[in-house]
Parts: sequence; structure tokens; C-alpha cells
Amino acid sequence: MHRGKGMKFVGDSRIPAERKPNIPKDYSEYPGKTEAFWPNFLLKEWLVGAVFLIGYLCLTVAHPSPLERIADPTDTGYIPLPDWYFLFLYQLLKYTYASGPYNVIGAFIIPGLAFGALLLAPFIDRGPHRRPTKRPFATGFMLLALAATIFLTWESVATHDWEAAEQQGKIVAEVEIDKASEGYKLYQENGCINCHGDTLQGGGAAPPLVDSGLSKEEIAEIAVNGKPPAMPPGLFKGSDEELDKLADFIANLKSE
Ligand code: HEC
Repeated sequence: MHRGKGMKFVGDSRIPAERKPNIPKDYSEYPGKTEAFWPNFLLKEWLVGAVFLIGYLCLTVAHPSPLERIADPTDTGYIPLPDWYFLFLYQLLKYTYASGPYNVIGAFIIPGLAFGALLLAPFIDRGPHRRPTKRPFATGFMLLALAATIFLTWESVATHDWEAAEQQGKIVAEVEIDKASEGYKLYQENGCINCHGDTLQGGGAAPPLVDSGLSKEEIAEIAVNGKPPAMPPGLFKGSDEELDKLADFIANLKSE
């Protein structure tokens, strides 16, 4: 482009008097610096894309996404967990002044301030400097946000009950359960149903009792003595004969 000499300018010196159509030069005018879009460039793009695609395919085959059982909105014992990138917001809601009666603070006010500040940042911090050290406020707040996010994410992972999470999401094979049987009635009467569910599917921290792999004797023992830490002892209140029936009922719940 010619600038200055030999050009006529209108009032604004950045606009030449004669308008030239804005046609880009042909790539052949930049030898060695460019290449044809078709097929050279596209072929390279495609190759890189294919490598990533195959990589992801291998990854999904080697590590399938961990599926859980079908969501049950009536199961209030289920503790949901957001994806990793929302864990910091999730953790925030566990603190005293950000949860319960103060839910609004944790759910709206604190995140709102943080994200609102991000939106306003270009208007608040209008200094001409680009070096981080010359912009202490912007840099400081960014580091603070970064530290808070990392800390909260870390805390939520460290304090989560991963064992219970694995139990509650377990996929349990469906079994035909005879709800008119004596075993099921004993299961109901002794309150096992409150924790282990109406189809013995488990729930909350209580594991499913289908396919437990336990023997009759072991189940009878647990029904009376509980199972530490989460199942209390003394739940079963019937006779020995009834205990035998209950244990037999549970031991025979097999999915195949
Ligand atoms: C208060 C809730 C609760 C009640 C009521 C309850 N359980 Fe449990 N049960 C649990 C929990 C929680 C566990 C897991 C204990 C652990 O491993 O920490 C469990 C574990 C078990 C296990 C072992 C399962 C396994 O795969 O290891 C059996 C069997 C069992 N319960 C049977 C019963 C029977 C029979 C009754 C009724 C008499 C009953 N439970 C009542 C909460 C309960």
C-alpha cells in the first residue's frame, strides 16, 4: 500500500480519496509464506483433526464414562455432585454463611459479585499499562479468584464421601421381588425397607441387597448386629425362625 506521497487525502488523512476495492492479494504473491487452501491446508487440518478424533475415541473406549443407575427424583438420600468445573461453587454452598438461611449469599450474591466484577473490569481498570506488576488491583483480584477457586475445588474433592457416592449410584440388576412373601413382610416390619429401599435397591449410604453375595448366616448376623459404621445393631426384632426366613429371602435375591 502506498502511503503519503502521491496520494490525495480527504479530511480524515486515514482515508484515501480514491477508493480501491478491497481485494486481497493472491497467495502466489507471498512465495514460501503461504499455501493453497485446497488441498494443502485442508489436508493438514484434516490430519490433525483425525489424530485428535482417534485419540478421543481410544480414550473413551479405554475409560468409558462412569454411568450410574437411572435417576430417581424420589430418592432424597441421593447426594448429587456437579461436574469438576462447578465444584468450587458447590463447595461454597456448604459454608455456614453461604447456606441454609443464607443460601442467597452463596448462590447469588458472592458469585454475582465475582462475575459482575469480571464484566465491569474493562470499565473499572482503565490504566494504559499492560504489565501485571503495574496493574496491582487487576492482578491481585485475579490471583485471589484463582486461589479461591483452586482451594474450594480442592476442599470439595477432599471432603466428599466418595465411597457413599459409589454405592448410591450403583447399577443394580432388576430382580422380580415377591412383595407378598413372608420374607418381604419381615423386611418391611423390621424397618430394613427404610434404608435399603422397597425393591432392596439400596439408597443413600445403604447398599443394595440384591446380589449381595452374602450367605444366609452372614445376612442374619448383620440383621441383628448391624454393620459398622453406618448400619446400627439391634434392628431385627423378630424370632429366630423369622430371622431365618428374612435372611433366606435376601440371600436368594439374585439377578440371574
Ligand atoms: C439405618 C439404615 C439401615 C437399616 C434400617 C438397615 N440397614 Fe442394612 N445397611 C445399612 C448400611 C448403611 C449398610 C452398609 C454398612 C457399611 O458397609 O458401612 C448396610 C448393610 C447391610 C448389609 C450388608 C450388605 C453388603 O453388601 O455388605 C446387609 C445384609 C443388610 N444391611 C441387611 C439389613 C437388614 C436385613 C435390615 C433389617 C433388619 C437392615 N439391613 C436395616 C443401613 C441400614
